[in-house]
Amino acid sequence: MSEKIVVTGGCGFIGSNFVLEWLASEEAPVINLDALTYAGNPENLASVGGDPRYTFVHGDICDGDLLGRLFAEHRPRAIVHFAAESHVDRSILGPDAFLKTNIDGTFQLLKAARAFYETLTGEEREGFRFLHVSTDEVYGTLEPDDPAFSESTPYAPNSPYAASKASSDMLVRAWHHTYKLPTLVTNCSNNYGPFQFPEKLIPLTISNALAGKTLPVYGDGQQVRDWLYVVDHCTAIRTVLRQGRPGETYNVGGNNQRANLDVVQTICALLDKLKPGARPYAEQIKFVQDRPGHDRRYAIDARKISGELGWAPAETFETGLRKTVEWYLANGAWMRDVTSGAYQHWMEKNYGTRDVKADGAENAKVEDRR
Ligand code: NAD
Ligand code: TYD
Repeated sequence: MSEKIVVTGGCGFIGSNFVLEWLASEEAPVINLDALTYAGNPENLASVGGDPRYTFVHGDICDGDLLGRLFAEHRPRAIVHFAAESHVDRSILGPDAFLKTNIDGTFQLLKAARAFYETLTGEEREGFRFLHVSTDEVYGTLEPDDPAFSESTPYAPNSPYAASKASSDMLVRAWHHTYKLPTLVTNCSNNYGPFQFPEKLIPLTISNALAGKTLPVYGDGQQVRDWLYVVDHCTAIRTVLRQGRPGETYNVGGNNQRANLDVVQTICALLDKLKPGARPYAEQIKFVQDRPGHDRRYAIDARKISGELGWAPAETFETGLRKTVEWYLANGAWMRDVTSGAYQHWMEKNYGTRDVKADGAENAKVEDRR
């Protein structure tokens, strides 16, 4: 039986960490299919460019013919599906690409995977898996005292991004239920770590702090996210791929709930130690107009994956964040490359029209009026 796996979106943040972690821990080759959108950076995988077990294929998951050819040629034992449009703010300003890639792309992938699966017999058929990488944002938002999201929490997506991921999860569910495709779904909380594009909170804060720019905090900064170091997410996916039961969903999280303002202040304090500037970095924090429909709190109940499959994260938020800040400090050239060109246009589009608020209290008022 072929041991190869196909990964989609392997040049993005989590995908590239997954490919690196996979090749360091497993024997089996990886085929990485990626369309190289603004978020895909083949340089993330430069260190494995010479590894004969790594193959890059430049292509779109919406291209069904390409998928059919790819699966027939490589006969993977598993497909691990990361490719997506992944940024909530972009989904608010332009949802089209989210519906195209996240919904239609997943549909095309499921169709091609099913057609390939139907050709398999014996051990190859037994061992085949389709693992869909999804998010906790499909569950909507929590009040401060609500229990964390479990696998049975009803779906209530609030942003175009979350709705497109929820739709793709539903398609995966139906392909298992109707066609018996051996699927696995992981719904993970917010990731952070090396190679994350600086449109997301943690790398944006590090990048802007070092560049002497404003550190934008949406609304009152008291929205809570449950942070997981990206390599821990990668080990969770490998665990589910190896031991997960087909048709099941596994929630993945690090039990690290933090308010956004705390996260930004903690990064500032770390930078004050690791790369002291003339003034404390926290002086660059500015409260800006909130994101429309901003979910207040996410939290993951990860007892199923830990109890059934024995997975646990290796990093705490403190150790993971320190590693992350150190990585960005050591990789200034990576940051310069990804923030040249179209990135500037995005910053202008997303932040140019947000009023800067005097303080968090004023933002709380803005939020109450909605
Ligand atoms: P990312 O935006 O950094 O990377 C996405 C990758 O997909 C890029 O390499 C991009 O080029 C590629 N891609 C986009 N459209 C494509 C297409 N049509 N065909 C082929 N490739 C395409 O995303 P990420 O943060 O690494 O997230 C990966 C997956 O994990 C996504 O499915 C996301 O929903 C999910 N997820 C992310 C987080 C998080 O905190 N980042 C948390 C939970 C789940
Ligand atoms: P983000 O990293 O975009 O992830 P997500 O929206 O998927 O959770 O944002 C994390 C949190 O940080 C979210 O509550 C929005 C907030 N945020 C800011 O306060 N300022 C910013 O400039 C960004 C990008 C995000």
